[in-house]
Amino acid sequence: MTSIFHNLHNKTILITGANSGIGRSTAFEFARSSPEGLKLVLTARRVDRLDEISRQISAEVGEKVRICVRKLDVSKVEEVSALVEGLDEGFNKDVDVLVNNAAFMSGFERAPDIPLDVIESVWATNVIGVINMTQSVLKGMKKRGKGDIIMIGSNAGRYAYVGGSIYCASEAAVRSFTQSLSKELIATRIRVMTVDPGQVLTEFKDIRHRFDKEKADAVYAGCDPLTPDDVAEIIVFAASRRENVVVADTLLYPSHQASSTDIYRKL
Ligand SMILES: NC(=O)c1ccc[n+]([C@@H]2O[C@H](COP(=O)([O-])OP(=O)(O)OC[C@H]3O[C@@H](n4cnc5c(N)ncnc54)[C@H](OP(=O)(O)O)[C@@H]3O)[C@@H](O)[C@H]2O)c1
Repeated sequence: MTSIFHNLHNKTILITGANSGIGRSTAFEFARSSPEGLKLVLTARRVDRLDEISRQISAEVGEKVRICVRKLDVSKVEEVSALVEGLDEGFNKDVDVLVNNAAFMSGFERAPDIPLDVIESVWATNVIGVINMTQSVLKGMKKRGKGDIIMIGSNAGRYAYVGGSIYCASEAAVRSFTQSLSKELIATRIRVMTVDPGQVLTEFKDIRHRFDKEKADAVYAGCDPLTPDDVAEIIVFAASRRENVVVADTLLYPSHQASSTDIYRKL
């Protein structure tokens, strides 16, 4: 029987933010789903963590999954531009699947008290970084007439909430960019797909709370959030459908959540 993941065989998958949370789980999930042949390009700023993940994946699935680790800050346009051209021989500069996953938020300030450095760095990472990454792989995809661009958005891009204006706006901006992109590419086999999770247990909350452990730990009190593996399974499922199937827009919640703010807590 053919595996439901056979469409992934020998593809080159590029993941941003691959050293933590959803990005890390996605790297493992791709490798586990196509252990007989796959090329993984794992990127983030903390490259030591990527090296460790690369070693762990190789130990688990073997050498047929080839891994290229690259230090990348998606908010730096020159690093994004140099990335694809600088890939190792054999990765062919042909990225088949881009997972636009890197993003963050710091704090809960409301206008007019949102620090300028937060506004600028969130926009540079979550919005401009995603757009630049997409453009950097799209030229090759258009030449080949196919490829997958998977945006990891957030329910925050659909349901804005108090104290989240910059993060929610950044996710909504990517959502609009994605909608235009999928219309612009309608005559190709380039698939544009969005996966929008609700609560997921990752380091995101620690960064959001500026490493105030008590506050970060309280975020999921009485809740049973998604794990990063839950989200990774959906990402890999979407990427492994046959070419004519587009899992275009997925909203993923734990059972106690129905929007950014409709959350049932069992306390
Ligand atoms: N956790 C949630 O509840 C939740 C809910 C909805 C949506 N999401 C979305 O899920 C995605 C992944 O988040 P996560 O929860 O897995 O968070 P996470 O554990 O904090 O992971 C974030 C990843 O992004 C990387 N990153 C951050 N800034 C970067 C930059 N400037 N350049 C390159 N890489 C950068 C981080 O690595 P380095 O710091 O080493 O670069 C890390 O690998 C994000 O798009 C987030 O908006 C998360």
